Amino acid sequence: MDQPIVDRRPAAIRTRSPVVEALLAEIASLDAASVSERMMPAGCYTEPEFFAFEQKEVFSRTWICVGRVEEVAAPGDCLAAEVAGEPILITRSPDGALHALSAICQHRGEIIPCPQKGKPLRCPLHFWTYDMEGRLSGAPRMGSADDVLALRRQVRLPELRLELWHGFIFVNLDAHAAPLGPSLAKLEPLWTGYEATGLEAVPPAMSDTPLPWNWKVHVENFTDAYHPEFVHIGTHDFAPSVLAGDGVRFTEMLPGDNAIVRSVPMRTPDGGMMKDGWGADAAFPPIATLPAEQHQRIYFAMLPPSLTLMLAPNTVAYTLIRPAGVAATFAGSDRVTYGGWLLPRSTIDLPDFIDRCKAVREGGSRIWAQDVPVNLGMQAAKSSRFLPSG
Ligand code: FES
Ligand SMILES: [Fe+2]
Repeated sequence: MDQPIVDRRPAAIRTRSPVVEALLAEIASLDAASVSERMMPAGCYTEPEFFAFEQKEVFSRTWICVGRVEEVAAPGDCLAAEVAGEPILITRSPDGALHALSAICQHRGEIIPCPQKGKPLRCPLHFWTYDMEGRLSGAPRMGSADDVLALRRQVRLPELRLELWHGFIFVNLDAHAAPLGPSLAKLEPLWTGYEATGLEAVPPAMSDTPLPWNWKVHVENFTDAYHPEFVHIGTHDFAPSVLAGDGVRFTEMLPGDNAIVRSVPMRTPDGGMMKDGWGADAAFPPIATLPAEQHQRIYFAMLPPSLTLMLAPNTVAYTLIRPAGVAATFAGSDRVTYGGWLLPRSTIDLPDFIDRCKAVREGGSRIWAQDVPVNLGMQAAKSSRFLPSG
């Protein structure tokens, strides 16, 4: 944990290319006050070299959400994840602590998968084993018992920084990164009413094929409060960005903030997702401990680059985002797959809970069906010679 992580990847990946240098120079020259110059250059969405740069400079130095504590609830549990292309294992050791370990075997570099419950981490190539804290525990045919003991003292899987935030597990490859919590401080007041009841996760399934667009297209769509009344006709009208005397409100961005947060009013309190989209007759019951404002409004929080939240009167719905290429993004939530809900135990215990989940999934998929074509259009247009400049 204390040892610096040495970057041994090929120099071609570690070195900044002329393409990246040109794009960074173009970004630096943009006039942020000009509406037409607020877009990032097209190459930031289309150039594989820029994607590699982001992996190194953004995803390797930022807190990345990889899942929830419920997915590693008991000692011996393991969750496989990926951060900046690095395979990672989140483990819970017998003392109850969580660990973020590199999944790269320290013998010859094979990738170690999560084991069956109760088994140690075991490399599939020569069966070296590691405990849940990453220490080598066995190395078959590697010499005498003393030889193996000496190896066990020396060898362990590199451990990465891990921080919990309201049950979300975040990992950072940068040993010197600033702590996560302060960058999300403005969201704290929104959690109080949920946590007075207590929430449990129904984790999302991750999409098994990547969505064919850049991760920034994905999060820009999420945080664009302008499009719902045009793209989401029939599914989002209940929670409009424009309403007489009311409408969307963005919170202020302060230095060090890493959350873009907005809220929209609902036409009647305690609405939520139903099978047709947002509506008054929400499939999950409202959470009584929320303050009045959170019964009236839905809050959308974008925590770039790996997590989005929708804080509704009845649930916190979340999406995990994992970029896989310049136009390839895995995502998991009720929009894309299923799940991604934090719910009170009283909701999960309802006899018709599965039917309610299906309704929410159907509503989410209807909204998503409207987003897919516009996201495809936004990604395709990045290759156009007529794209607005800057
Ligand atoms: S590479 Fe893992 S045991 Fe040999
Ligand atoms: Fe949308």
